[in-house]
Amino acid sequence: MVLQKGHPLFANFGGIHHIYANEKALEGYKNGSFPDGSVIVFDLLEAIEKDNAITEGNRKVTGVMYKNSSVFNETGGWVFGAYKNLSGEKLDLDWKAQCFSCHAARKEHDYVFSSYRE
Ligand code: HEC
Repeated sequence: MVLQKGHPLFANFGGIHHIYANEKALEGYKNGSFPDGSVIVFDLLEAIEKDNAITEGNRKVTGVMYKNSSVFNETGGWVFGAYKNLSGEKLDLDWKAQCFSCHAARKEHDYVFSSYRE
């Protein structure tokens, strides 16, 4: 998905993003309930518009959701984290306020916004 200027999420999520899911998370996408051990990755890259094409630029941020209900039961089993790059440099954030607060609106979909495409 490409979020462009004018979209309410542009400030934080403007760019091209890809979503990756492990096998367990795929089960969740298919049946609506994500098992413990599910990992979903939101990889956000700059969107560069040039010569009538939009291509991927530098990585902006990589967000991760991991489910472990015995530890994170207050937030539907999920913990959120965000990384500056793939070498694991973590962003210092209050994930309950800065991530879960918005995802909480998707309670009936187990806090996940995106859906699976066949
Ligand atoms: C203002 C609302 C909002 C906030 C805040 C937010 N997200 Fe999301 N997030 C979304 C939306 C909307 C999507 C779906 C994007 C799509 O469908 O491609 C999403 C998708 C995701 C996904 C892929 C799984 C899913 O739910 O579709 C992950 C992982 C994720 N976000 C992590 C994070 C992390 C980590 C943070 C905090 C740093 C965060 N999010 C903060 C709205 C938000």
